[in-house]
Amino acid sequence: MLVETSDHLTRVADRLRAARAVTAITGAGVSAASGVPTFRGDGGLWRSFRAADLATPEAFARDPALVWEWYDWRRQTIARCEPNAAHLVLSRWTERPGFTLITQNVDGLHERAGARDVLRFHGSIWNVRCRDACHGSPPSWRDDTVPYPVLPPPCPYCGGIIRPDVVWFGEVIDPRLFARCAAATACDVFLAVGTSAVVFPAAGLVHEAKRRGAFTLEINLERTPASDLLDLSLLGPVEEVLVELDRLVRLPSTACP
Ligand code: OAD
Repeated sequence: MLVETSDHLTRVADRLRAARAVTAITGAGVSAASGVPTFRGDGGLWRSFRAADLATPEAFARDPALVWEWYDWRRQTIARCEPNAAHLVLSRWTERPGFTLITQNVDGLHERAGARDVLRFHGSIWNVRCRDACHGSPPSWRDDTVPYPVLPPPCPYCGGIIRPDVVWFGEVIDPRLFARCAAATACDVFLAVGTSAVVFPAAGLVHEAKRRGAFTLEINLERTPASDLLDLSLLGPVEEVLVELDRLVRLPSTACP
């Protein structure tokens, strides 16, 4: 159900059509309709699990098998999911010059929908690396094994163990990736899509875009801590709102000359 008026959507569509540079950052809400659990809210992962036990370097040092059990379970869940309409719209938009897609999601569904050059802010659950960054191993490699026969999975290069190539709480975002994301805040329209907007530094990007003069909007089922600071909140399921926005963007402009 869209609760925002069609007038709002039409105005956003006009802005998107006129924009030279558009940036979107996505969160778990984009993959909710695909069946990937979100982190917060009803049924969110952090309602049943403690981030400190599963998504920190300390947790991995303490009990790598436990952390891997959780990631292996999530990989099995995600492997059964398909991209939804929101992923498909965003993937088409990545073909447009000046469009940048940043995601906090590690599920790889944007890429499976065909999105190009996705900036994966928190890494990918499908990439792994040697825990000890051993000499023979690449910095990171793709590994689609589901499920792993042994947990924690061994490093094929040194016989130690591998870890998911995701960003855990307390870890630093790769500075080159961060610089590309920060540069993309210099845009005409910045969309925060399906994210609770509480995990920094990702949540800071929309505010930086606003500071630099972008029109900022969020698409979410509900208001977020960012809502009051943004230009517009479109409240509704992202898989419906984006399809409608995409349809309107393709129509001739309704703006008065
Ligand atoms: P959250 O689970 O915190 O937030 C998901 C947001 O999506 C919520 O605001 C929901 O209201 C909204 N939502 C759910 N379904 C939706 C739908 N169909 N349409 C529109 N909105 C919907 O997920 P993130 O914001 O992505 O980080 O969380 C940010 C980071 O916190 C994650 O990347 C992860 C997590 O801990 C790390 O693991 C480092």
